[in-house]
Amino acid sequence: MNSEIDLESIREDFPALACRRNGKPPIYFDSACTTLVPRQVIAAIDQYYANYPACGGERSQHWFADEVNNRIEGDTDSGIHGSRQMIAEFINARSPQEIIFALNTTHAINMVALGFRFQPGDVVLLTDKEHNSGLVPWLRLQNRGLIKVDRLVSGAGEIFDLGEFRKRLENQRIRLVSMVYTSNLTGYTMPAKEMIKVAHEHGVKVMLDGAQTVPHEAIDVRDLDVDFLAFSIHKMCGPKGVGVLYGKKELLDYESAGGGGSDGAIEPVILGGGTVVDSNYGDYNLAEVPTRFEAGIQNYPGQIGAGAAVQYLQNIGMARVKAHEIKLNSFLTEQLINRYGDTGWFRILGPQAAAERGGILSFALRRPNCFGISRELSERSNIMIRGGAFCVHSYLNHEFGADWLKPGLPTDHLMTYRVSLYFYNTMEECSVFLDTLNTIFEERGYL
Ligand code: ALA
Repeated sequence: MNSEIDLESIREDFPALACRRNGKPPIYFDSACTTLVPRQVIAAIDQYYANYPACGGERSQHWFADEVNNRIEGDTDSGIHGSRQMIAEFINARSPQEIIFALNTTHAINMVALGFRFQPGDVVLLTDKEHNSGLVPWLRLQNRGLIKVDRLVSGAGEIFDLGEFRKRLENQRIRLVSMVYTSNLTGYTMPAKEMIKVAHEHGVKVMLDGAQTVPHEAIDVRDLDVDFLAFSIHKMCGPKGVGVLYGKKELLDYESAGGGGSDGAIEPVILGGGTVVDSNYGDYNLAEVPTRFEAGIQNYPGQIGAGAAVQYLQNIGMARVKAHEIKLNSFLTEQLINRYGDTGWFRILGPQAAAERGGILSFALRRPNCFGISRELSERSNIMIRGGAFCVHSYLNHEFGADWLKPGLPTDHLMTYRVSLYFYNTMEECSVFLDTLNTIFEERGYL
């Protein structure tokens, strides 16, 4: 099998890449925020609205509802693979029942934060580079006096410090490790399998924020032995408003095992229609897992589109996706380091080797008037990157000082920018970015 991506044909699948502004195509380097969507996914969503725009979840007994359910839950009689099963296979879950549809990664993390039955004084261990979605839900519980939050700081070279992690786990009050699997700031992916093994040796459950991992490499939840994994479908060519919480089956059913539930099992946070099999004026009986977690009318077109997105990625092959991102990132990294590496005002965040940063390349500039470069790249050449704190305010405020985004004088400017690549990006796009950035630096008098 050819190990290279067939870029020409893949790019034709993405209608957004055919758009033009000022006669120029888009150069989309913001896929860590959200990805472009291929026509196959758009068609799946379109078909829902055109042909069977009804509710799923076995509420209604009619033709349209069956069409919806078959596409989400599958139909063994006609051999139709449902989205839930496709996602389960994509991450090698044991069963589709371990796949809960959420709104996004943030929602999925909150399901665990609010559904995990903590005892006062329990500790949750995070990293020092959590996205706000992996930090704020825990801070809220800490502010309410329910838990304490501890933080593991990266080791030398900005990589995971297994020795320090082991030491930290000696704190017997740690109940859960909740960590960003791949940092949306640096692109560094932690050695999850080793880390989970160590956590389990200490009886501690692990949740990974896989928002920046699952779209970029093959994930095997059984091999990792991870307890919970949260990710977003909109970061992997799917529609907005769909995320996934994977959980080991026994951890999604707190009523099992004689009523006490498995230690570390979560209960559903939002209850209502679709989450119960029966109710009376005094009580209710929860539905099976995962239905009990999916309250109310769901985003059925999004869930159907999620299946199409997973199928699309599988057809490309995750090994190819990863290799392509690293190839582009290696080129960009080398060029940027050659050009600005010894200036003293340019710094790549995280590990310096591109191979350790997947498709992410964030850099900090410390130059007068260095705000607004992402806007200028867009105006000049339709290049879309992101500048700012990337929702990792905690780490950047700690590194740069609380007021770094509100400096008193332009001479004090410091700004972080992030290029985030995906399998549809090209070397030519990287070259246009490098040239345009260099022109901006020259015109701002940095060179
Ligand atoms: N978490 C997304 C990002 O890093 C939104 O851009």
